[in-house]
Amino acid sequence: MTVRPRLRHAKRALLVLAAATALAAGALFAGPGAVTPARAATQLPCDIYAAAGTPCVAAHSTTRALYAAYNGPLYQVKRTSDGTTTNISTLSAGGYANAAAQDSFCSGTYCTITEIYDQSGHGNNLTIGPAGGNGAADIGANAAALPVMAGGHKVYGVYISPGMGYRDDHTSGVATGSQPQGAYMVTSGAHVNNGCCFDYGNAETNNDDNGNGHMDAVYFGTLCWFTPCSGSGPWVQADLENGLFSGGNGNNPNNHGNSSTFVTALVKNNGTTTYAIKGGNADSGSLTTWYSGTLPTTSGYAPMHQEGAIILGVGGDNSNSSTGSFFEGVMTAGYPTDAADNAVQANIVSVGYASYTLPGNPFTTGALISLNATTPCCTGDYLTGDTSGDDVGITSVTSSSSSTLKADATWIVEPGLANSSCISFKTDNGSGDYIRHFDFQLFLEPNDGTAQFALDATFCPRAGNSGSNYSFMSYNYSYKYIRHFDFVGYIASDGGSNAWDASSLWQDDTTWLVASPWA
Ligand code: AHR
Ligand code: AHR
Repeated sequence: MTVRPRLRHAKRALLVLAAATALAAGALFAGPGAVTPARAATQLPCDIYAAAGTPCVAAHSTTRALYAAYNGPLYQVKRTSDGTTTNISTLSAGGYANAAAQDSFCSGTYCTITEIYDQSGHGNNLTIGPAGGNGAADIGANAAALPVMAGGHKVYGVYISPGMGYRDDHTSGVATGSQPQGAYMVTSGAHVNNGCCFDYGNAETNNDDNGNGHMDAVYFGTLCWFTPCSGSGPWVQADLENGLFSGGNGNNPNNHGNSSTFVTALVKNNGTTTYAIKGGNADSGSLTTWYSGTLPTTSGYAPMHQEGAIILGVGGDNSNSSTGSFFEGVMTAGYPTDAADNAVQANIVSVGYASYTLPGNPFTTGALISLNATTPCCTGDYLTGDTSGDDVGITSVTSSSSSTLKADATWIVEPGLANSSCISFKTDNGSGDYIRHFDFQLFLEPNDGTAQFALDATFCPRAGNSGSNYSFMSYNYSYKYIRHFDFVGYIASDGGSNAWDASSLWQDDTTWLVASPWA
């Protein structure tokens, strides 16, 4: 990966830089991070916004510090094995997350992100969200689901699948009523859906839909609320409650969407007359202003009625059907200047967010592989799919096995039917069938072309849960992995309501050695 030279954006950022350096040098943090005297460091997003007179009142990231002087905890993970938690902190002041600490704490078990700390000193930490008017209580994200590179370091983002989300209903310093606010998040165009609502920002404090103007959040995804939308998205939109606004009164054909792998999504609102929507490639270039103009004229939005809770990955009423990725985000007090937004985008670009490639990645399109079980019981067994019975499980395969069995134990790696950043397993037995889950059991079935089949047949290769080899995370249930249990194939969580979710041997049963193809 390439870390882009910071100098490139030096001119543009020069004015705010001078002011921000002065400010950061004198800054005091009441938050969880240790206070470190600022060096003459690159100014990070919240230094830039502070210098421009619109300080961050919330600063969340699992990947890096958002202040040059911040040196402390970024997020908390909880492991299933013994229920204990640990904080994942920056490696240095203004630096990146110590993902190695997570890897070591979570080795051989499953970890959930249980809290995302606020770096702003306002204490606006996000925890797993409660039930709302339109969604049962959320679950936490799989801490290992989204490895990426940032600043040359392997770090983890927050991978939201339906049912997951975070919230803080008791904040301080966040805009309420018609106070001005800015917000951005770095997200991904490679992992989106049209479920409501992958949001980051201001929402109701009682988790209910309290009417127009009670939210002021950045939305990113493919849900087109005010049809028609331009193209197929995903779009950066403003969730102002009871609508995802592409601009103006909702409909805005000029909002063409952003589909790059890493996306900067920004919404700002002066609370009384004006709002703006911007999007850009978080890896290069500047932000495009998709809209800047008057607030919706529909009743309730001008002035706004913000309540000041903070949501991540859900709608204001906890609608939690969305998919999305979150790497960093901030909310400001005040309506940021365009110059500050531009300097923040330049800093985000300098991070060089990039995809993470698994060591030895054997999952290239068209590759033929066999998947050898690693649990001590079963090291002679391979994942097999039997077309006549539709069953998927593990079976002993040897060089003298029938050619039928050898073919049943061989898989063609295909781009994920629901998402090409993950994979699908097509059998090499000639039937053209794929592995899919249904009621959390694996079956070998022909692709019926439905969106549900595509989701159920998509798996994301990840580092092996036992500490070596590989595991396969279900795309639509990202807390479950392909597992054998009593020789039958399932998707399983580490502990849960199904027999095959048993914690005993979970890490071995979900870890697979990629072997040469039997067929
Ligand atoms: O505005 C879109 C969504 O509508 C909000 O996020 C949610 O509260 C409501 O269901
Ligand atoms: O396997 C879990 C779910 O069961 C699948 O997503 C769905 O197809 C079925 O209802």
